[in-house]
Amino acid sequence: MRQIVVTAIVGAALFSLVACAEKKSPAPTAAERGKYLVTISGCHDCHTPKVEGPGGKPVLDDKRLLSGHPEKAPFPSWTPDDIKQRNAMALTNPMLTAWAGPWGVSFAANLTPDKETGIAEWSEASFIQALRTGKHQGQPNGRNILPPMPWEVFKAMTDDDVKAIFAYLRSLPAVKNQVPLPVVPGAAPEAKP
Ligand code: HEC
Repeated sequence: MRQIVVTAIVGAALFSLVACAEKKSPAPTAAERGKYLVTISGCHDCHTPKVEGPGGKPVLDDKRLLSGHPEKAPFPSWTPDDIKQRNAMALTNPMLTAWAGPWGVSFAANLTPDKETGIAEWSEASFIQALRTGKHQGQPNGRNILPPMPWEVFKAMTDDDVKAIFAYLRSLPAVKNQVPLPVVPGAAPEAKP
């Protein structure tokens, strides 16, 4: 009797082990992990245009994921005085894709693999360098990447994380969208109340 009970317990234990092994999902691919990292790191907040969702709430435009500030969309203007009077540091547009502040006006980049307007021509090494050094396109002599792109925060990511993000971005549908060049301070049109 005792032996039967022991056999049954061992059998049940073995069965649940096998069941566990079967349930375990396969390791994610680099692009799948990249998608997860992009989602939790808030890249969409600034890099994906928004459309009006239920109740007027802005939602991600899933036809233009991560394609940056839309080329013809209006953007905020400011003057140092205007911003000081409002006790503010920066202004953003309703899509959070364009940002005006002491650095001028910056526009979230097109991160889709479009050949002319996106990151199709970027190498993985320059993508890593851009996020590590805060230099435009990872070029040592490039201009500084402007706020509010939080590249300093992303320095905490491992190289494998950054490579996974790059793999995901390269797997996105390419969106042709020529993001405007940054506007230098003082060149922006006068802010309107
Ligand atoms: C708070 C807004 C914000 C968030 C969040 C954000 N970005 Fe950006 N990003 C920007 C802006 C604005 C620019 C344009 C900066 C410029 O022109 O110098 C930019 C530029 C870039 C560039 C181009 C840099 C270059 O060389 O010119 C890359 C690559 C990039 N972002 C990747 C990412 C990734 C990946 C994430 C998420 C892990 C992310 N960004 C999250 C605002 C943001």
